[in-house]
Amino acid sequence: MGEKKTILVTGGAGFIGSNFVYLLLDERKDWKVVCVDALTYAANIHTLNRALENKNFVFYKEDIRNRDGIFSIFEKERPDVVVNFAAESHVDRSIENPGIFLETNIIGTQTMMDACRKYGVERFHQVGTDEVYGDLPLDRPDLFFHEDTPIHTSSPYSTSKASADLLTLAYHRTYGLPVTISRCSNNYGPYQFPEKLIPLMINNVLHDKPLPVYGKGLKVRDWLYVKDHCYGILAILEKGRVGEVYNLGGHNEKANIEIVKIILKELGKSESLITHVSDRKGHDQRYAIDPSKANKELGWGPTTMFKDGIKLTIDWYLKHQDWMAECTSGEYTKYYEEMYGNRK
Ligand code: NAD
Ligand code: TYD
Repeated sequence: MGEKKTILVTGGAGFIGSNFVYLLLDERKDWKVVCVDALTYAANIHTLNRALENKNFVFYKEDIRNRDGIFSIFEKERPDVVVNFAAESHVDRSIENPGIFLETNIIGTQTMMDACRKYGVERFHQVGTDEVYGDLPLDRPDLFFHEDTPIHTSSPYSTSKASADLLTLAYHRTYGLPVTISRCSNNYGPYQFPEKLIPLMINNVLHDKPLPVYGKGLKVRDWLYVKDHCYGILAILEKGRVGEVYNLGGHNEKANIEIVKIILKELGKSESLITHVSDRKGHDQRYAIDPSKANKELGWGPTTMFKDGIKLTIDWYLKHQDWMAECTSGEYTKYYEEMYGNRK
């Protein structure tokens, strides 16, 4: 991609989308960044405070399911590149209420691609997840997800994301839409909503609340610092091949209980806060990405080691307790009570 682009980012008021917006504003200063976000419970508009002061940034509160609204933003902004982060993203919520996941993650993606077809773009990038590959057994550390690992989903969330990926590839093959897809492992870092493991545990530790570990805490996730994910997406936009899928991950597998203990140690609190609660339904055992394609083709690899990234993350949350308090006011209390209140 050359100079002076207009890049439209959906879901830019959420966790990874906002980190991506800041990466663009900081490192691609001649690009115009158009952010489209419906501001669901998972967004916090104050996340974008610094962006809103930047002359290269414009924000639209809009739902990616709303065709008229999305098409009129395209009519006005004529983006060269579109990156679709907007999604319902929490597995536990998808187990309670699958419908909204299918609507936003599948129909919303279709709407975005229809707008791309109508107005023409250089690239539509779909932000995907490694959860589309299902899970790996805990006793086979030699196995990893490759780009050609069969799609085999477990939760309504991962199924909706897999559907979106398949639709994206279908739009490429059927209509010639210039697409790419990234499938990333679990992210952590600033601005993650405290329903996800790491910020939820940090928030609970800071309030001396019990730490609800599902089952024995032995499920394994492959953690990547959010900025590394964002660099990976940028590398795909600038160097990736159209029609391709790229796995992004950090070879950084940890059991959930290890993560919780690291957070407790960093914050100087006792492990007695750990409370084992009933397991998630259909809980995936282990995720582990083979990132060698992105490594070879794009020269991409993670740059933040977990031991540093987790310190940066905890430090960020300590310094942004107002942000956390905004996220945990209102609807969050009800969600927490429903999800964890009677969980034994
Ligand atoms: P998030 O829940 O923090 O943010 C999602 C954002 O999308 C929010 O700002 C929300 O307001 C917005 N949004 C939701 N529905 C919308 C709609 N209908 N129209 C417009 N905006 C809407 O999610 P995240 O963790 O930042 O994830 C971003 C993307 O990355 C998702 O597509 C997710 O599947 C994918 N992903 C996440 C991870 C992870 O570890 N968090 C890993 C791999 C892939
Ligand atoms: P999560 O952050 O929801 O990400 P994902 O399910 O997409 O991997 O959860 C990460 C892991 O942590 C997962 O195995 C479930 C577990 N977990 C808990 O044990 N307790 C919690 O309160 C949460 C939110 C997650």
